Amino acid sequence: MASKTISVQTGDTPGQRYDVVVGNGLVAGSLDGLVIKGQRVLLVRDANVPAAAAAKLTAKIARRGVFVSHIAIPVSEQLKSVVTLERILVAAADAGLERGDVMLAVGGGITTDVVGLAAALHRRGCRVVHCPSTLLAMVDGSVGGKTAINLLVSGGKPNGKGMKSSGKLLKNAVGVFHQPERVVCDVSLLASLDARTFRCGLAECIKHGLLGGAFGDDGLLGYTAALIDRGVSAASRELPGLIARNVALKAVVVGLDEREVRDDLPGGGRMALNLGHTFGHAIETLPGLSWHAGGKKFRGPLRHGEAVGLGLICATELSARLDLCDPKLAELTRVLVGMAGLPVEVNGLPGAKEVVARMAGDKKAKGGKLRLVLVADDLTPFIASDVPAGMIAEVIGKIAVD
Ligand code: GLY
Repeated sequence: MASKTISVQTGDTPGQRYDVVVGNGLVAGSLDGLVIKGQRVLLVRDANVPAAAAAKLTAKIARRGVFVSHIAIPVSEQLKSVVTLERILVAAADAGLERGDVMLAVGGGITTDVVGLAAALHRRGCRVVHCPSTLLAMVDGSVGGKTAINLLVSGGKPNGKGMKSSGKLLKNAVGVFHQPERVVCDVSLLASLDARTFRCGLAECIKHGLLGGAFGDDGLLGYTAALIDRGVSAASRELPGLIARNVALKAVVVGLDEREVRDDLPGGGRMALNLGHTFGHAIETLPGLSWHAGGKKFRGPLRHGEAVGLGLICATELSARLDLCDPKLAELTRVLVGMAGLPVEVNGLPGAKEVVARMAGDKKAKGGKLRLVLVADDLTPFIASDVPAGMIAEVIGKIAVD
C-alpha cells in the first residue's frame, strides 16, 4: 500500500513546511534523508513501545554511520513532568547532541509532547522527528508543534509555610511551540497496543469530524461514522486513509493559526481544536470514577481520549441547548462515542458544580472567563464566553450516573 504525505505549512513562518507521512512499515525509514554520517540521534522510546522495534530502528540508523543513543521513558500523566524532561535533557547532553542533530520520539502523545519540549530546550532548540505509536498521537498530538509537561500545583491556597500542596494536576501547563521536522505515522506500530488505547484516538477523530465544515472537510464526520459503524480497529485497511484525512484537517488549522492567537477567525482558529477538551480536562484526572464501555466495566482514572469523548457529548449537548445545532447532532455524537467503545456516562462524578469549578481553571480562559468551543449544524465551531454556569452543570448531568 502506498504511503500518503500531508504537508504542514507552519502559519507564521512563510515557506516553512514539514511532511507527515502515513503508511505501513515506515518507521525504519523515519530519518531517511534527514541525517548524514557523523551526526547524532537520541531516540526516546515510550516504554509501551516494544524494545525490539526501537532496536531495529537504532540498528538501521547506525548503519549509516550515525551515532544513536536510546532511552526508554515511563509514560503517565504524573510522569509527564519536569522529572522526565530532565532525564531526556541529560541524555541529550550525555550523547553530545548538537543543534543540527535529532531527537527522535517513538511513542504516544505524552512522549511526543515531552520530547518535543526537550528538543525545544536543548541548546535552545534542536531538530525533532516524531514517530507516533498511538492513533491519538497520529491524528492529533504529534502534528502542529505543541509541546508540554504537566504541573502538580497547590491550587494557590497559602498555609503557614507557604503554599499548601493539594496536588492538583494542571495538564499541559508548561510548553512551547516547536515544530517537528517530519512526522512518520506507521500504522504497524498500532498493532502492539491494546484496543482501549486505539479507541481513545477515535475520540479525536470524532472531534475533527465535528469541525470539518470550518476546515475543508465537511464529509469527515460521515466518513468517520461509517468506519466506526464497520468496527474500525488497529488492523483495518482503511486506517491510513482515516489518519491522513484527520492530519489534513489539522494541517489546515495549524496553517491558519500555528500559535493559537487568531481570535479574529470564526471559531477562534486553533482554539477550535479544544472542542470537548474543557469538559474533558476537568474530569480526566478525577479519582473514583467507574464506567461501562464496549461491554466491559472500568475503574478510573479516565484516559485522555475517553474524557474527550465525554467532553464532546457535553459540548454538543450544550450547543443544542443554545440552539446552535439540532439536538440530532448531539445525539449522533453520543451514539458515535458509544459505538467507538468509549464511555458515554460515568459513575462517581462529584457534583456538577464542582466539575464547573474545575473547568474554570482551564488554560484557555481569558480575563478569568471560561471560553467554551461549541459547534453549529454546518460543523463549524463557535466560541462562547458567557454560558451560564447552571446550563453547563445541566449538560454535565447528562454524563453522570449515580
Ligand atoms: N491538540 C490541540 C492542538 O494541537 O491545538
